Amino acid sequence: MRLKDKVAVVTGAGRGLGKGIALKLAQEGAKVVVSDIDINNASETCKEIQQSGGQAIAVQTNIAKREDVEQMFKEASEKLGEVDILVNNAGINRDGMLHKMSDEQWDQVIAVNLTGTYYCTQTAAKVMRERQYGRIINIASASWLGNIGQANYAASKAGVVGLTKTAARELASKNVTVNAICPGFIETDMTRGVPEKVWDIMVSKIPAGRAGKPEDVANLIAFLASDEAAYITSEVINVGGGMIL
Ligand code: NAI
Repeated sequence: MRLKDKVAVVTGAGRGLGKGIALKLAQEGAKVVVSDIDINNASETCKEIQQSGGQAIAVQTNIAKREDVEQMFKEASEKLGEVDILVNNAGINRDGMLHKMSDEQWDQVIAVNLTGTYYCTQTAAKVMRERQYGRIINIASASWLGNIGQANYAASKAGVVGLTKTAARELASKNVTVNAICPGFIETDMTRGVPEKVWDIMVSKIPAGRAGKPEDVANLIAFLASDEAAYITSEVINVGGGMIL
């Protein structure tokens, strides 16, 4: 119970990686704000946490809207207390080759992955710096270094790395750490959408010989969110079974 009574917000926690993270943080004793644009899935995650004896609330949030984000943090502090841990996990992909990419594909991905992460980070950081405590963990991606068909996604995730490193430097003296995690290829609804042939190619590039599981990422997050990780900040950590894109 490394996170006993800490309050954690996990965005995009209705399914996939975010759900795995929310369940793990709850297992470690955190009170979890299960935030997602899809309230049905968020409520399901919330129910699972409550059924195993944990504390959680579900909040419908579109992180690309500042007013939604502010409302989510307000509800969190009223119902569970001030936020100690923020996991910026919600993200989307709208893949396509650069020469065929529409402005809409570009704008949607930047709005959610980068601007949404900025809204959540800024809102949390204002309170964390006053309270002189906080843990912010951003889910970037191995794709931030560039990946064919993902100009929008890679740019958004590279932006998340830049935001992470800047926020980490600004907040280090306030006992707030900010780190980014780059998952490689993790089995979730997002990746299950790829054709079987692509799946096999992706897995063949992973030295560990398998796709990752949400728990593989969640275990690192639980550590980074704990007091044990107080001196670790501004890091970009890969969780990819040895995969390099
Ligand atoms: P997913 O598509 O299974 O889940 C994403 C969740 O975010 C969904 O519950 C969705 O409703 C929610 N969401 C989408 N737009 C939102 C918005 N505007 N506001 C609030 N919630 C929103 O995806 P997955 O695989 O779980 O990915 C989670 C994060 O991990 C994303 O940031 C993704 O880019 C990143 N990632 C995933 C990898 C993988 O292999 N699955 C690899 C590298 C990074």
